[in-house]
Amino acid sequence: MFEPNTKVVILTGAGISAESGIKTFRASDGVWENHRIEDVATPLAWMKNPKMVWEFYQGRRKQLLEVDFNVAHRALVELEKYLEDHFLLITQNVDDLHSRAGSERLIHMHGELRKLRCEKCENIVIAMEKSHLTDKFVSCEKCSSNRLRPHIVWFHEMPFKMNEIYDAVERCEVFMAIGTSGHVYPAAGLLAIAKDVGAHCIGINLEPPENVDLFDEFHQGLAGELVPELISKWIKK
Ligand code: OAD
Ligand code: ZN
Repeated sequence: MFEPNTKVVILTGAGISAESGIKTFRASDGVWENHRIEDVATPLAWMKNPKMVWEFYQGRRKQLLEVDFNVAHRALVELEKYLEDHFLLITQNVDDLHSRAGSERLIHMHGELRKLRCEKCENIVIAMEKSHLTDKFVSCEKCSSNRLRPHIVWFHEMPFKMNEIYDAVERCEVFMAIGTSGHVYPAAGLLAIAKDVGAHCIGINLEPPENVDLFDEFHQGLAGELVPELISKWIKK
């Protein structure tokens, strides 16, 4: 089904990392690792209670050291090797499992847990050493700020690289959404754009997502089973 020059855009969400042991966001009534999302993932929460938000994200950051990518992440690397520059992976996930699996043409639209950012000078650092993972705030080495924030897109903030994302989606021939519930915009709106430009739209998810009717094909089940199986079928010469 895929020729080596087919332009493919993939959007992934929490479901692709679920089998690696990372909890999805909407798994249990909007409560995420014992917190309501709005208590920890908004700029207001950071302003009012930075210690709580910091400790919450330190927990998520430390978890990265305990988990590993799975066969679905790996299958996307195989697809990228086949399509090279015709491939783009957009992830809503803030874990680093796609890049650890080997994905290179990758956009983290909602930020990355392994990075911290200075609110004063916008310095962005990869901070995964032991000294960066305690309950104490990490200070900026470039300016006087004594508190870096998680490099995460919170609710009410603009996702990263939206121009690049829209450009790729508007030009794609196949759009695939994997492991995402279709609740959070603008990510959830990319499917409608792909559909509008005539791309063949494929969904893979454990449950039918919000926007399931827009897919040309929907495959219901585990990403770890379906993604490797479908991709090896599609790139078979
Ligand atoms: P959700 O938690 O909303 O949805 C995850 C989807 O994955 C659900 O529809 C599940 O049915 C499905 N799922 C679970 N396990 C699966 C598996 N093993 N294989 C396939 N599918 C599976 O997560 P997202 O859609 O990624 O934003 O959430 C979008 C954004 O909302 C997140 O990026 C996050 C959150 O607020 C930020 O942190 C900025
Ligand atoms: Zn700074």
